[in-house]
Amino acid sequence: MNSVTTDVTQERLVVTEIPGPKSLALHERRKNAVSAGVGATFPVYIERAKGSILVDVDGNHIVDMGGGIGVNTIGHADDAVIEAAFEQAQRFTHTLFTVTGYESYVRLCELLAQHTPGNFAKKSVLLNSGAEAVENAVKIARKFTGRPGVAVVDHGYHGRTNLTMSMNFKAMPYNLGFGPFAGDIHHAPNSYPFHDKLSGAEAAARTISWLDKRAGATDLACLVVEPIQGEGGFYRPRGWLSSRSPEVV
Ligand SMILES: Cc1ncc(COP(=O)(O)O)c(C=O)c1O
Repeated sequence: MNSVTTDVTQERLVVTEIPGPKSLALHERRKNAVSAGVGATFPVYIERAKGSILVDVDGNHIVDMGGGIGVNTIGHADDAVIEAAFEQAQRFTHTLFTVTGYESYVRLCELLAQHTPGNFAKKSVLLNSGAEAVENAVKIARKFTGRPGVAVVDHGYHGRTNLTMSMNFKAMPYNLGFGPFAGDIHHAPNSYPFHDKLSGAEAAARTISWLDKRAGATDLACLVVEPIQGEGGFYRPRGWLSSRSPEVV
């Protein structure tokens, strides 16, 4: 197999101004070709990466503190991941699982059941994005319960589709100008032990009481929560979910 990432030295190495000339040139191309709706946090463009080191188009080695916003937990271009992707691409690249099924979809769902919190029977559906996953979780909850209401907690981020924008806490920068939004969404207080000094049990009681009054528990299909928020600040609601899923907190 031909590899472009094996030669990345695992150290910070600055060889040009940052952004360098090649990144700046690419940024100009981007302005003409990429929608302005896609934000650009840094005008630095990556050519390859390995582990925690990004190599930009000017040859700078930069420590990756973004990690795909905290999801790249095993680092870039992990050998086992490359091998698995290569092997899969050799077998077949795409089918529609609902038309032509395959074993690795089933295996991944089994692994998710095994490794996600909660000691109960679990099933999964695999989707293209976080927003699509949230949308479908809401559809499943509504269909199963026959109820319309969706509860979310303050400072949560859920995505860029219409329903998930309706569930977001921040209008700015995510939702402004994109309404009208979906109905039957109820925003409830979260647990912020660092700020509110409430125990997990007290914070949970506050959330439940709020939802009882504001939404009416019997109208709720689901409560959608990021166990540890990212966009809203890295709050850890210690103990808040523990009565149901002790492994989460
Ligand atoms: C908690 C949470 N939910 C939903 C999303 C939306 O995911 P996507 O951008 O893949 O649609 C994100 C993305 O950052 C997220 O952090």
